[in-house]
Amino acid sequence: MTKEELIQKAQEAMRNSYAPYSKYHVGACILCTDGKWFYGANIENASFGATNCAERSAVFAAYSNGYRADTIAALAIVSDGERIAAPCGICRQVLSELLKPDTPIYLSNGKEEATTSIRELLPMSFGMEDVIR
Ligand code: THU
Repeated sequence: MTKEELIQKAQEAMRNSYAPYSKYHVGACILCTDGKWFYGANIENASFGATNCAERSAVFAAYSNGYRADTIAALAIVSDGERIAAPCGICRQVLSELLKPDTPIYLSNGKEEATTSIRELLPMSFGMEDVIR
């Protein structure tokens, strides 16, 4: 699957966004090394802290289906915002453990596009090696 096709899939996932509070819609798609892919969307809750972001939904879906960092090829995240949606702090922390540092992350809002990685998004991160000694 090309980068453009993965971004397109993330746009499809955005249709499943449940965002009655913020009305800010986000979609994500994880591409695995065997070609399988998983949608993610932001799913909000009246208890706001219980909201799940789109990229976390997507990476949890991939992991729930048996994929791991070494079998995840790329992640696309799209939003309907004015600016491209760069992952929030909680998502950066989660992605830093669940993706390889250089796995490409494509961001788009239909107007602007960027390619990044968790290495770039979360330098000096706290991780498993700090906890397990
Ligand atoms: N959101 C995401 O899904 N991903 C991001 O990268 C930024 C924020 C969601 C959470 C919430 O449902 C809405 O966007 C507004 O914060």
